[in-house]
Amino acid sequence: MLRKGVILAGGTGSRLNPLTRVTNKHLLPVGPEPMIFHPIRTLVEAGITELLIVLGGESVGDFVRLLGDGSEFGLSILYYAHQARPDGIAGALRLAERFINGEPFVVMLGDNVVDSSIRPYLERFAESPERARILLKKVPHPERFGVAVIRDGTLVEILEKPAPPPSDLAVTGIYMYPGDVFPIVRNLKPSGRGELEITDVNNHYLHAGRLDYDIFPGTWTDAGTFPSLRSAAETAWKVAEARRDKEKKEPI
Ligand code: TTP
Repeated sequence: MLRKGVILAGGTGSRLNPLTRVTNKHLLPVGPEPMIFHPIRTLVEAGITELLIVLGGESVGDFVRLLGDGSEFGLSILYYAHQARPDGIAGALRLAERFINGEPFVVMLGDNVVDSSIRPYLERFAESPERARILLKKVPHPERFGVAVIRDGTLVEILEKPAPPPSDLAVTGIYMYPGDVFPIVRNLKPSGRGELEITDVNNHYLHAGRLDYDIFPGTWTDAGTFPSLRSAAETAWKVAEARRDKEKKEPI
């Protein structure tokens, strides 16, 4: 089973201004907990025990004080890396190379929230760890994301923020990669918006015939805009209440 995971929590969070004027987006409350707790809990529940969090901005000390050595979550290793410039999701991923050390791993964006387990997809990935795997989700506004072009049931291309979108299937911020992703990331060229795009990495595997996908049946949202922050909070409350019920603790 997979043991290593990476959470990307850099970026600028400019769409949530003024909430992000003096702090990092991933420290904001989403339901009863800080945003960053959600991807950590999701990965730990799926079996991840060794985690690297890539941070950005000036809140590094706050993350360390909040998360410590990760033992509260059941992690055996928690490392931190700092992305000096917000040069894109793939730019943040580049910083994980030494931690990953050639092993297959899962990446989750720090502002993603799900209501159900991703363990089945990690297990499927672990059966063919030389192939990359992504999770797609049907969403009402796919043009905000990478969007899957599916022809005759086959994924043929991923387009970054296309207008109009060719389908309603967004690429979620949960990616599984073989250890050989880093040479691909190192060779990326910045896109028109000056970022190193994770969509280029996914298309690289797709064109090499090495990309699989699942359609995530549960609730998935990012929390990077005001409407999505609001729906992420609703999902997070439900998840937290279900966990409390399971653990038979006092209601929140
Ligand atoms: P985005 O929401 O695309 O970017 P952002 O967080 O900078 O926000 P905004 O567009 O409002 O300025 O990023 C999605 C996730 O990816 C985010 O949770 C953090 C991560 N990320 C990084 O780790 N490094 C980066 O350079 C970028 C752009 C994103």
